[in-house]
Amino acid sequence: MKRLSDLPLGVRLGVLGLVLTLMGGLCASWYYLFLHYAPRDGNPDDLTYVDVASAYHKMQIPAPIRVALDRGHPDELTGDPLPADEREALLAWLAGEPSTLMQRFEDETLEEMMPAEIIFRRCVSCHDTQPRNTEHPYPDLPLYTPSEVQKVAISRDIETTPVRILAASTHAHALALSVQTLLIVALLLLTRLPRVLVSLAAVLLGFALLADIASWWLARQSEIFVMVIFGAGGVFNGFSALALLAIAGDLLVPSRRPRED
Ligand code: HEC
Repeated sequence: MKRLSDLPLGVRLGVLGLVLTLMGGLCASWYYLFLHYAPRDGNPDDLTYVDVASAYHKMQIPAPIRVALDRGHPDELTGDPLPADEREALLAWLAGEPSTLMQRFEDETLEEMMPAEIIFRRCVSCHDTQPRNTEHPYPDLPLYTPSEVQKVAISRDIETTPVRILAASTHAHALALSVQTLLIVALLLLTRLPRVLVSLAAVLLGFALLADIASWWLARQSEIFVMVIFGAGGVFNGFSALALLAIAGDLLVPSRRPRED
């Protein structure tokens, strides 16, 4: 059987150009992934788990105050730690029904444990436009008025990709990537690589793509499939890149066999 390396130079160069273009496309898809997903959590500068996972599975960005309290803030900054019952009162307030959040913020029946009171007592010394605490002031995040508090007390739902767009994306990717991968496997078969390696790459590529795309849909039901998307997507992209490198290498190294034609 003819191998890639037996083909005339012009054909080898042409195929090499196409393989390099595919590699460029692979890099562009990583870059697009970043641009597309990174802003989903409100911060476009980095790509986080929530950025990607929230496209497939319904997720929430927790309220910044909850994140701060959960990590032990402000005890790390001050010798006057937040008493445990006050921390719990604030967390219970944040965990309650979202539509009544600001009513419960100023629920007078809670007296000393009213969230507005606790925040006024424990937070405003640093979190104010003119902080009294000069050691660890944070004037950029004032917590003096209810509306200032509200901004950081709300957890936000991130909407998953609408089904209509997921269907369009599945139709485009399932058709294009499977055909692209069929060609990659065919080209691998024409290289001088050992057949075991080619078989391994074919199995991994085929099933990783299937698992990846199927999980785009399954992840709407269960977050476990977000992990499958990460794993299978990584395997698919990694092995596609390796396969293309192997094919490019094979095209560049001329055959040592005498030409048959
Ligand atoms: C001793 C001063 C001090 C006290 C008291 C304090 N903070 Fe802070 N807080 C800071 C500083 C400084 C930062 C920024 C650095 C950091 O995140 O640790 C911060 C950060 C935060 C953030 C994170 C903002 C972000 O950018 O994500 C939140 C939310 C917050 N504080 C809420 C509170 C609440 C609620 C209280 C009261 C229970 C409180 N803080 C008490 C000084 C303080």
